[in-house]
Amino acid sequence: MAYTLDQIVADCRAALKKDNGAEGRNAVRKFVELACLDEDFVSTHLGPENDTPRKVLYEDEELGFCILVHVASPETGLPHGHGPTWAIYGIAAGVTEMTDWHCTELPEGRTPGKVVKVKSYELPRGTAHLYNEGDLHSSRREHEVRMIRVEGINLMGVRRPRYEALN
Ligand SMILES: [Fe+2]
Repeated sequence: MAYTLDQIVADCRAALKKDNGAEGRNAVRKFVELACLDEDFVSTHLGPENDTPRKVLYEDEELGFCILVHVASPETGLPHGHGPTWAIYGIAAGVTEMTDWHCTELPEGRTPGKVVKVKSYELPRGTAHLYNEGDLHSSRREHEVRMIRVEGINLMGVRRPRYEALN
């Protein structure tokens, strides 16, 4: 049976209502993987006619989380966190290389923070990764990547500090 937007919304709501910590987020991560591997879900929301870099499919009024799809161009992104919230990156098509960073100096005002590289790893199709509050990461894509993401809150318009890589 196809995995639908209504179903992933219901699944995420139930999981996050029960537990907004590690357990609930890990459940959401698995629902994102399910959606990434579901041909109907992917063709409905991330089919060839979609070339939108960022599209919110659902925002939960009560719990605040949102489900988004992204069509991401090849790019090497900068190290960043997700401010006050967590984020789950799921790959529906393509491969993203992720790098985790450790902060050695906090950003202050207009001065970017300083970070050192911890590790890099690939997220292939069908995998989803959780970044908790404060987890710094960057992504690199050699080709287009189609993603499903869940954010703890909608970060549109939230200012995020910059970080400078030391290595
Ligand atoms: Fe991110």
